[in-house]
Order: sequence, then C-alpha cells, then structure tokens
Amino acid sequence: MKILDGKQTSAALKEEIKAEVLKIKSAGGKIPHLAVILVGHDGGSETYVASKVKACEYVGFKSSLIRYEDNVSESELLAKIEELNSDDDLDGFIVQLPLPKHIDEQKVIEAIDYRKDVDGFHPINAGRLMLGLPAFVPATPMGIMTLLERYQVPTDGKHCVVIGRSHIVGRPMSVLMSNKANPGNATVTLCHSHTPNLKEITLQADIIIAALGKPEFLKGDMVKDGVTIIDVGVTRLPSDKTKSGWKLYGDVAFDEVSPKASYITPVPGGVGPMTIVSLLQNTLLSAKNEIY
Ligand code: GUN
Repeated sequence: MKILDGKQTSAALKEEIKAEVLKIKSAGGKIPHLAVILVGHDGGSETYVASKVKACEYVGFKSSLIRYEDNVSESELLAKIEELNSDDDLDGFIVQLPLPKHIDEQKVIEAIDYRKDVDGFHPINAGRLMLGLPAFVPATPMGIMTLLERYQVPTDGKHCVVIGRSHIVGRPMSVLMSNKANPGNATVTLCHSHTPNLKEITLQADIIIAALGKPEFLKGDMVKDGVTIIDVGVTRLPSDKTKSGWKLYGDVAFDEVSPKASYITPVPGGVGPMTIVSLLQNTLLSAKNEIY
C-alpha cells in the first residue's frame, strides 16, 4: 500500500510556483494576484480562506481578502464582482461558498468573468471542461489529477467509480477521468445517493473517488484488493482526544480499507493540500494567459 501524500506533493508544487514567481519578478513582470470574497463567518470557510491567503503569500502572489457580513445584499455582492471583473491588476478571484440563503449562488457564479474564474465554477468553464477544451478546472478535481499524475497511478482502461455528483468535485471528476488523456482513459461510473446497489459497484472498482461527505462511509468490505482510493471527505466532528477539540474525518474508513489498497490518500494530508495548490496553479495560468 502506497500513501498518496498530498502534503508532500503540494509542498513540492508550491516550491515550483515560488520559483516561477521569482523568475517573473526578476524579469520585471507582473506579480500574479488572486482575490477572495468571503461572506460571513462560517468556520470551515474561514479556515479554507485563511489557507488560500497564506499559500498566496508563501509563493509570492499578491492576494486580496474582501470580507462582507452575512447580511450583505445580493446586489452589493454583484456590484463588487463587476468591479473585480474589470480590475486589470487582478488575474483571478473566487467567491467562497456556501453563501447565505438570501443570495442566489448560481447568479453570483455566473456574474464572474469566466476568464478570471480560477475556481472553474462558471458554466463556460464547466462546459469547456466537458468538451475537452482549455478551461479553468475546479481545484479539487485538478489536485486529484495532479496527484495521480505525480505518483503515476495507472488509470488507462481502469474502472473508476466516483461517489458523489457535486458540481465542485464528483461531476467534473467523472469528466476528467473519462477524458482521452493521461491520467484519464478510465471507464467511469458516477454513483450518488439514489444508487441502490452501491456496494456491488464499488466491489468492481479499480479506482474509487469518494466525495459524498459522509464520515467513514466506505468500509473494507466494499472494496476489492489492489484498489486505488481517493478520499475527498472532510467532515469535522467534535473530539475530546485532540487539543483543538475536533477531528477531521474522511469518507473512507482508512484502517479497514488501506490494507486492501494499492494507493490511498490520507485525511488530512491527501486531497486537501492539493486543492489549495491547484488554485495557485490556476491563478498562475491566468496571469500567464495560458487558458484564455
Ligand atoms: N467551498 C468549498 N470548496 C470551495 C472551493 O473550492 N471554492 C469556493 N469558492 N468555495 C468552496
């Protein structure tokens, strides 16, 4: 069993990005600039956004954090997005999700200029990804593809089972794994909450990507020997055994599944750090005009 170490891989990638920023700087070029809009004080969002800003600082990007209280109006948020769309210094920006209930998330996503949509959530980027055209790829699926590539995990001709059909992870993941590419060229089954015979399907999988958000859902008896496991789950549950008072759980029962696996991502330290570094990569791609 080999651990797909997202912490180590993302650290190496950050060094590569940092070196590239230094090169840009010494050539007198423009420093990549990412802005993040954060609405309210959701615990998870605060943590993610802090990590994104810290990662920008580490690699030498310029970053801007724009905060609003929970009661910000949809029109105020849309006006800010318009302003960021036409800010020439900005290479990309994201609006951290979820947003408060009174704000239409889809409307907000569609207001972002797709050429600055480094989250890859805009319908133009989602559509182009589906067609195999250059596009900003959402950070989590992109990070998973990078991890598979760096560890040279075989995917060609394999049966890949994706559990979860979210726009952010499961759906784009299913497209990427079925693409004519390496990694890719897999036969993909996309499962979700209405799949009746899930265990029957996961037992046939060479690769399982668990992205359903249910702690330790995938058990040892649901996988075959030699499987590759990508665990996207990050559920925080209270714990009296940790200093922080909470513990992070993946969607995979690691202790049961790992002895049967060829490759497996841990939680934490697997997919999570890869997500952050992918956002940096997208920002750099945007700064270099490599997608649009
Ligand atoms: N909320 C959870 N994941 C993400 C992400 O990748 N981007 C944004 N904007 N919000 C999120």
